[in-house]
Amino acid sequence: MSFFTTGMSKKTLLSGIQPSGQLHIGNYFGAIKQFIDMQDSHNAIYMIVDYHALNTIQDKKVMSENILNLAIDYLALGLDPKKSIIFKQSDVSEHTELCWIFDTITTMPFLMRAHAYKDAEANNKEISVGKFNYPMLMAADILLYDTDIVPVGQDQRQHVEYSRDTAQKFNNVFKKDVFKLPEPKILDAVAIVPGTDGRKMSKSYGNTIPLFATDEEIEKAVMGIVTDSSGDVPQNVYAIHRLLKSEAELKDLYENSKGKYKVLKEALIIDMKAFVKPLREKREQLAKDIDYVLDILKEGGKRAKIKAEKKMEQVKSAIGVDLY
Ligand code: AMP
Ligand code: TRP
Repeated sequence: MSFFTTGMSKKTLLSGIQPSGQLHIGNYFGAIKQFIDMQDSHNAIYMIVDYHALNTIQDKKVMSENILNLAIDYLALGLDPKKSIIFKQSDVSEHTELCWIFDTITTMPFLMRAHAYKDAEANNKEISVGKFNYPMLMAADILLYDTDIVPVGQDQRQHVEYSRDTAQKFNNVFKKDVFKLPEPKILDAVAIVPGTDGRKMSKSYGNTIPLFATDEEIEKAVMGIVTDSSGDVPQNVYAIHRLLKSEAELKDLYENSKGKYKVLKEALIIDMKAFVKPLREKREQLAKDIDYVLDILKEGGKRAKIKAEKKMEQVKSAIGVDLY
């Protein structure tokens, strides 16, 4: 191994996804694709953030199934435990411990500026303390590992900014540079992947194309893409098609089929099926060996824990609770 590829010279990259249900192609192109592409060039850490999901999933069976499913998804998509640490948040109790410490230096008005909180308030939704506090747990996730880069979709930008602010606040209050300031990594082209209705693809809008969809699900989702756009090119079809093929590859098709929305949708269905098939097959293989998947999570948790414990020693020393 050359000097430049040793662990020492690589930056640390960390991200996480909540085990809150089926992944969709917005998750993939907005976030997970970057996770996979950056495994070789970074010390990468990928989490299943189950304690974040506990805000919405409060059913033992659903929680366990979702965690396992997301672990299988990660591996099927190409996250590699030989290259990256893959673990679940609840295996490393330092996350919640550090979250508490951050709570003590964070004000309510600061957290009230969060988009997620403001949206919930605007909709008169009852908000749990856990949801209110969501950005602090996420800050702990990120800061525990001296993370340099956080690859996420646009909707998570503010959360990464909360982490930066919290790192700075801690370093100022306790007069010690314990935490590094992380940077978000958001790819402009896919920052907001549109759904079948042209709005942001999101489970809560019911406009998704599931990442491991069956052929029938793909047909149904693509045929359901809203095409009342003006002009010859159905923008909502094209925007999704562009995720799978380059502008040059699509040029002839879209020029020769102006206004023929059905033809274009059928072409998208073929491309989407070709994209999803190998992923679905890999997933089916992995789902047959649950013990293998669980072992990867367990091992990842142990590796993450060692790092988190070291960081917490620095934190405890900085705040003055380390008497022996
Ligand atoms: P979520 O399941 O919404 O918590 O999202 C998991 C990851 O996928 C986060 O990094 C999001 O920013 C990203 N993501 C979710 N939906 C989209 C979308 N429509 N476009 C781009 N990125 C997305
Ligand atoms: N809030 C992120 C989401 O909903 C999930 C998340 C939790 C996360 N902790 C993180 C993402 C740390 C990146 C880094 O998508």
